[in-house]
Amino acid sequence: MRKTVLVTGANKGIGFGIAKHLGLNGWNVIIGARNQKRAEKAINELTALGISVAGWVNIELSDLNGIEQAAKEVNDNFPDLSLLVNNAGIPGDMGVDGLHTEISDIKRTIDVNFIGTFALTKALMPLLTNNGGRIVNITVPSEISPYWHPLAYVTSKAAQNAMMGVLAMEAKQQGKSLEIFSVHPGPTTTDLNGNMSLPGFHDIDTVGQKMAELINDGKIHQGEFIELYPIVKED
Ligand SMILES: NC(=O)c1ccc[n+]([C@@H]2O[C@H](COP(=O)([O-])OP(=O)(O)OC[C@H]3O[C@@H](n4cnc5c(N)ncnc54)[C@H](OP(=O)(O)O)[C@@H]3O)[C@@H](O)[C@H]2O)c1
Repeated sequence: MRKTVLVTGANKGIGFGIAKHLGLNGWNVIIGARNQKRAEKAINELTALGISVAGWVNIELSDLNGIEQAAKEVNDNFPDLSLLVNNAGIPGDMGVDGLHTEISDIKRTIDVNFIGTFALTKALMPLLTNNGGRIVNITVPSEISPYWHPLAYVTSKAAQNAMMGVLAMEAKQQGKSLEIFSVHPGPTTTDLNGNMSLPGFHDIDTVGQKMAELINDGKIHQGEFIELYPIVKED
């Protein structure tokens, strides 16, 4: 039987790369996207590659009611879901230093990267646990890098990392049939960073393929924080 994965933010960037390479490795893919047009574009590209796309779900992470509705749809239409890839995220304002970050920007970034991601994870956890499934969190390290530290983004991601660490710890302590771990894909050329392509950056295919290899490696990664590629260090 094919394994079924939901990737949030799968219409472009790293999420698309992960959906593509899991699909090429035999997974049945559900696209998480914010509207039908964006979802259809991804579905057309993936199906043209021979990938099995189960469908798409409308996931706007700043809309808690919408997340409940999305989780209900997944439960009703895709009851064999065995993997959630929490990939969707926003950068916040990366152009200001920490002290000058607008409070509204911090709230917006935390709403999406932390609160929305938690709400979706919580809503899908019973189904994933029932299916002996996994949750993979796409993120950056919590440790503050001297080279790059946009406040809204790194604080929202640190909260996201702590949340996943807590949930993984509880899953282990409670003997739940659920594996949770976080992955830092490393610097990747996407819209999130204005398609930056400096030495040390990778493209979405390289990252998607390495992510698919990690997810398919047959090992247990409960509670781990895995770096696919490190943050780029500047001189
Ligand atoms: N790029 C990097 O160097 C890098 C490094 C480390 C970690 N990451 C993480 O990787 C993940 C993917 O980033 P990316 O670089 O691929 O960025 P991206 O190309 O900008 O893609 C972001 C994805 O998230 C979706 N998204 C944005 N806001 C959303 C919301 N409110 N609700 C639901 N979906 C939303 C976007 O959908 P729309 O198309 O509708 O906007 C898009 O599908 C993020 O969590 C990011 O923090 C990226």
